[in-house]
Amino acid sequence: MLSTTHQSIIDATENYVKQELAEAEGGHDWWHIHRVWQSARQIARHEDVDPLIVELGALLHDIADSKFHDGDEEIGPAKAAAFLRSLQVDEAIILPVTQIIRHISFKGGNEARTYWSAELAVVQDADRLDALGAVGIARAFNYGGFRNRALYDPAIAPDMHMTKEAYKTSASPTINHFYEKLLLLKDRMNTATGKALAEERHVFMERYLEQFYREWNGQQD
Ligand code: ADP
Ligand code: NI
Repeated sequence: MLSTTHQSIIDATENYVKQELAEAEGGHDWWHIHRVWQSARQIARHEDVDPLIVELGALLHDIADSKFHDGDEEIGPAKAAAFLRSLQVDEAIILPVTQIIRHISFKGGNEARTYWSAELAVVQDADRLDALGAVGIARAFNYGGFRNRALYDPAIAPDMHMTKEAYKTSASPTINHFYEKLLLLKDRMNTATGKALAEERHVFMERYLEQFYREWNGQQD
């Protein structure tokens, strides 16, 4: 359970993040944060973690996404730290929270993991869950629209080896994103709770893709 002081820090952070993300694109708006926050709390109940670090990490994890800030990875952690200092939050809490923001979008693959904590594991699972299932599908097409990408193009095969940089500017249709990222996530979950929730959403996405191709190919049942 969180103490009253801790709860007031969380309430203040919730209000701050809501304000900061008022103009954000639909897949990264306050409601994304809200879903990640709720999932993180749910997963944290089964893990040995500091709940304050988990909740603040979830609330602040996309405060300045580098995708929308010319790739600058340090704006988010710096903004979060300045905000938490204004609330006089202990540095022993601020540091692990900024580390979560810095390291949450570690993609696996060939990148070396340079930081790890049980709290990061929980928030990262919660963030990944939001890329899966019905909400994940909605976010993918929303992001594809934001980048002006095609829904699908049978002539463009998924590219599993694109670098992070190339990926941002590639014209990869949104359906390809399922193969390039979304369907790989269930095997990258950190916690048992996260894995179980991811499985369910994964199966739903597979069903969705079957139906998508059925409709695309004009097959009548
Ligand atoms: P996060 O913010 O969770 O670290 P990303 O910023 O990579 O993850 O992606 C945010 C959302 O946008 C996710 O739902 C993801 O599937 C979607 N997205 C990212 N890149 C693409 C893409 N190339 N095509 C479609 N959707 C994408
Ligand atoms: Ni996120």
